[in-house]
Amino acid sequence: MRIQWGEQFITGHGLVDHQHEALFAAINEFDLALEAGLAPQRMDEMLAFLERYAREHFVTEEFLMVRADYPSLALHKTEHERLLLRVKFIRELRDQDPSLVPPEGLGKFLGDWLTNHILTWDLAVFEYLKEHPVEA
Ligand code: FEO
Repeated sequence: MRIQWGEQFITGHGLVDHQHEALFAAINEFDLALEAGLAPQRMDEMLAFLERYAREHFVTEEFLMVRADYPSLALHKTEHERLLLRVKFIRELRDQDPSLVPPEGLGKFLGDWLTNHILTWDLAVFEYLKEHPVEA
């Protein structure tokens, strides 16, 4: 399942939007690779890249929330950590035995997580930041 970047996901923050769009592209690339039956090792490298990039993105967003004293920072951070834990768990299981986590469905899981997270959690942050701008 391909996820489609669109204006409904725009937060208005240039760097965050760029990172989100790059995550869309990385998830779609991962999903295409699954369909093409890429070697398990290459898929694991792509999953590791996604985990690293998501971690970097979460640090960017959490920094903005800390600066703004965002009231739901702890809950939002927990959502980020839950995703990273799940991806780490999947990677560790696949390291033991790739057949423990068949790749089918992983692209959908990641795509659903990202689109729901942006619409439910991220847009609320940037609405708050518009109403509570932080001095540079
Ligand atoms: Fe864009 Fe809260 O992750």
